Formats: sequence, structure tokens, C-alpha cells
Amino acid sequence: MRVAVDVGHGWVKAVASDGRREMFPALLAPEPAGLDLGPLGNGVHWVVVRETGREEKYLMGEAASRLATHNWTQDKAADPATLALVLAATAMLDAQAPLELAVGLPLSWFGRQREALRQALWGRQASVRVAGREASIACERVVVCPQGVGAAVHALQAGAIGEPGYHLVVDVGYRTTDWLVVEVDRDGAPHGLADLAGTVEQGIHDVHLATARGLEADTGVSFREAELAGATVVAHGREVDLTPYRDAPLAGLTDEIARTVHVRMGDMVPKLRTVLLAGGGGQELAPRLRIGQAPHRVVPEPMWANALGFLRMLGC
Ligand SMILES: Nc1ncnc2c1ncn2[C@@H]1O[C@H](COP(=O)(O)OP(=O)(O)OP(=O)(O)O)[C@@H](O)[C@H]1O
Ligand SMILES: [Mg+2]
Repeated sequence: MRVAVDVGHGWVKAVASDGRREMFPALLAPEPAGLDLGPLGNGVHWVVVRETGREEKYLMGEAASRLATHNWTQDKAADPATLALVLAATAMLDAQAPLELAVGLPLSWFGRQREALRQALWGRQASVRVAGREASIACERVVVCPQGVGAAVHALQAGAIGEPGYHLVVDVGYRTTDWLVVEVDRDGAPHGLADLAGTVEQGIHDVHLATARGLEADTGVSFREAELAGATVVAHGREVDLTPYRDAPLAGLTDEIARTVHVRMGDMVPKLRTVLLAGGGGQELAPRLRIGQAPHRVVPEPMWANALGFLRMLGC
């Protein structure tokens, strides 16, 4: 079975060759000390990873939002939490042997870390218990893909990139924004332009951070970023609408990303035929984000773009 897992800094998106999908916040918290709450416990949200001589147990996804902070590691291959999220997502898809796995790295980290991440997952054998399922996982083939390229491959596959010319793909995530220019030549063949691609360390998390600061100033209550993913929060027994706290930071992030990508692309901006927006952040910023005058479009299923592109790169 083939499985692609996009372990984003915000959300894990996993797709399988049989069409199954799973998405959950990329949050893990170590087992908290406390009482066993029986039927009100967080049983289904635990992930237990067992390998030879080692067992790790975490609270995962939504259930960890009050206890966990998003993982900002720069070295994904050496990070047990990243590897546990990959294994948990694979187990949730009920992946059957032989397992072929695709995972991603932000564009500008890709060259440096791809081999280490591949080695960290390849041949790995683990028993994983999650959401009431127990799965035995052994990765027989591992492909590491660059994230923005996954989104571009998905956009090509979905027919969102077609006409000859330059197309800019912007994948706005929780922590990072990957951008990449794809040139479609006169014969219709696509080529990624390596000198016109990169990662900007800006994403929706910057909005959550500013929202948390504003809320704390007004209410005196501090919130973790992951608690601000919804439309409202409760402070002092009162439901607080997050919209006024989010609006200005959202506009600020949109302008900042547009400016940064514009500066890095220089005189290529007026030559673009289209701008394709991907990632959950791409969808969220789409009403405002403008880079030059070319038509802007959101790719189909923007949040799944990388995972679907990775699956394609595995040969599906
Ligand atoms: N249905 C949705 N569920 C969750 N988040 C959504 C949804 N629609 C849009 N979003 C936005 O998408 C953001 C996450 O985007 P995405 O999953 O592309 O980031 P990521 O891949 O986790 O991060 P990065 O690429 O930086 O590692 C969320 O912070 C939220 O603002
Ligand atoms: Mg992403």
C-alpha cells in the first residue's frame, strides 16, 4: 500500500492509495500525570509507539491542544515527535504491508535533510496503537519530497496549471510559506525553476501569536496558539469572538508574504501567467493575497495539495 504523509507544522494530512484520508492537528503532548477518568478519559486520542526496547505514549491531535505547543524543530529526522506523527497517521489509514511511504520537507530544508529523514523512516518497524487500532508498520520504501513541489505536482495533476508560461505556486502553511515558479514550455511540459523557489518563515501561526497577545492584553487570560484555531474562545465565562483580534494580523501577514515573495522574484512578477495558492493558509489568505497582476486561483483541495502531490510522486 502507498501512503503519503504531509507532517505540517500545524496539521498532519495523510492520504492512501486506496483513497482513505486523515487530517489532525500536529500536536503531541507527553502522557500527563493524573487520574484515570474512565469513559471520559482521552482514550481514543492516545498514540502509543512501540519499537524494540522502547515505548512512547502521547496525547495527540485536538486532545493535546491545551497541553502541547506546535513543534518547531529544525531537524525533522532526529525528532521523535515528527516520526511518531508519521507512524500515527500511517496507522490511522490502516496501512497494509508492503508499505511505501512519502513524506515532505520545506523546500529550502530539503537538500540538507532528505537523506537523514529517509534513513530515519526506512526499514523502521513499529507497533502503533491509535484511535482503537493496533497496526504493525514497516516502511519498505521511503520517498522524501520537497513541500512546494508537492503542491505544484498536485496543481498540474488537477489541471490548474496548463497554459505555456510562468506559474507561481504559493503554499502558505502554519509556520512556513513555500513558493516556486513552474514554467510550462510550448510543448506543454512543466519545469520547476530552482532559482525561483524558496521558503519564507511566515505563516498562519504569526496570526495566532498576535491574536493571543491581543486577547491577553484585553482579558488577562493567556491562550496557547492551538486553542485559537476556532472562531471563539471563553474567557471569564464570556464567549469572545476572535474576528476583531485576527483581522489586523491576518492583513499584516498577507501583505508581508506578498512583499517578501515579490522582492525575491524581482522582475519575474509581471511575466507570470497565474498565481496558484495552496495550503490551508493559501485558502485563508486568498481573498486578499495579491502578487502582481496575474489571475490568482486557489488550487483544488488546497490543504491536501502537498499530500496528494507526494502520493503522485510515489507513482500513484
Ligand atoms: N478546514 C480547516 N481545518 C484546519 N485548518 C484550516 C482549515 N481551512 C483552513 N485552515 C487554515 O490552514 C492552516 C494550516 O495550513 P496547512 O495545513 O497548509 O499548514 P501546515 O502544512 O501544517 O504548515 P507548514 O506548511 O508551515 O508546515 C490553519 O492554521 C488554518 O488557518
Ligand atoms: Mg504545509
